[in-house]
Amino acid sequence: MDDAEAVIHVETRGGAYDVIVGAGLIDRPKWFPEDTIGADVFVVTNETVGPLYADRLTAALGPRRITTLVLPDGEEHKNLDSFSRIIDAMVEARMHRDATVIGLGGGVIGDMAGFAAACYQRGVAVVQVPTSLLAQVDAAVGGKTGVNHPGGKNLIGAFHQPRAVIADVTVLDTLPEREYRAGLAEVVKYGAGLDAGFFSWIEANAQALTQRDAKALQFAVRRCCEAKAEVVQQDERETGRRALLNLGHTFGHAIEAATGYGSWLHGEAVGAGMVLAGRLSVRLGLLPSADAARLESLLSDFGLPVAPPPISADILLDLMRMDKKVLSGRLRLILMKELGDSFVVADCPEEEVRTVLHAATAG
Ligand code: NAD
Ligand code: GLY
Repeated sequence: MDDAEAVIHVETRGGAYDVIVGAGLIDRPKWFPEDTIGADVFVVTNETVGPLYADRLTAALGPRRITTLVLPDGEEHKNLDSFSRIIDAMVEARMHRDATVIGLGGGVIGDMAGFAAACYQRGVAVVQVPTSLLAQVDAAVGGKTGVNHPGGKNLIGAFHQPRAVIADVTVLDTLPEREYRAGLAEVVKYGAGLDAGFFSWIEANAQALTQRDAKALQFAVRRCCEAKAEVVQQDERETGRRALLNLGHTFGHAIEAATGYGSWLHGEAVGAGMVLAGRLSVRLGLLPSADAARLESLLSDFGLPVAPPPISADILLDLMRMDKKVLSGRLRLILMKELGDSFVVADCPEEEVRTVLHAATAG
């Protein structure tokens, strides 16, 4: 492990770009060069992150024409109204096709800034400056952008690859503890779903990660971005392998929906969802029970919930049927053969899913 910046190159049909992971990047003009970011910049941030980091980012951007829009904080504002506010403000600021949108914030801001950039004048550049752990390891990389609809999460959106992703791990110092731990669930996801060696590394460095040790964090963010880059390069539009990034998510989305988005953070629901995916994998004779126990124990060490809320199995199962991965009415779940080796199960027997949910929720 060293603490120099890591540069991860991502090559997709929708665009090629670098993800830079390091400490103190947000203050260094060298990471915001003219060939990546033009003279006209539109920064989208929120009322929490803006006061902390917008001035520092503006200073690093130097003598450009910069307009900053500060949106209210919260998943409930990830909607078409906020999207319209971004577009209105870009028109008012007379941004043209050579403008660069910068998303400065967590996944909510990144998704909205990216979607506005995808749509404004049929597409302008976006640079992601993710400030939450979840956004650094997942949301900022890969080009999924969008907003929620009252009928469901992320129902409106576009694929729009960023021109660069600047992940400065020092900004995670100000992230609230609960948000930080929820981000760790997504870190565990990469190990459990894709990389057994990384899973073991997370186990060995769990204490350092819990204490936000800068070197451990930088390594973890870098490994996750490398893993995500590799998957996205193979399957940008999620016709196959990219679905593996959703380990635990079908269960997790049902937990989020059943509890009325907001009481469980996304990462918390994904953590409990991975535990359920592990138990189902064991039940189907796919995964050794010792592997499922290791997963549960690591998530528990991170202070994450490892059981779903006491909601009836039938309600959760019904919500799982609304998942975007469902095709022709059949549940498609990501299950595991061993830690680090996950795969898509296209026609998962619902009775088995119900049994696992029933045992976990006692309902
Ligand atoms: P978030 O954007 O709401 O951020 C969490 C909270 O932390 C917010 O209150 C935010 O203001 C605050 N915050 C962020 N950075 C901070 C910092 N450095 N210091 C202090 N406070 C800070 O939530 P999130 O967990 O970052 O992202 C969740 C969103 O990401 C969801 O909408 C989800 O759908 C989306 N997402 C997208 C992708 C993708 O591929 N596009 C992947 C995963 C998740
Ligand atoms: N977060 C899952 C994906 O980007 O595909």
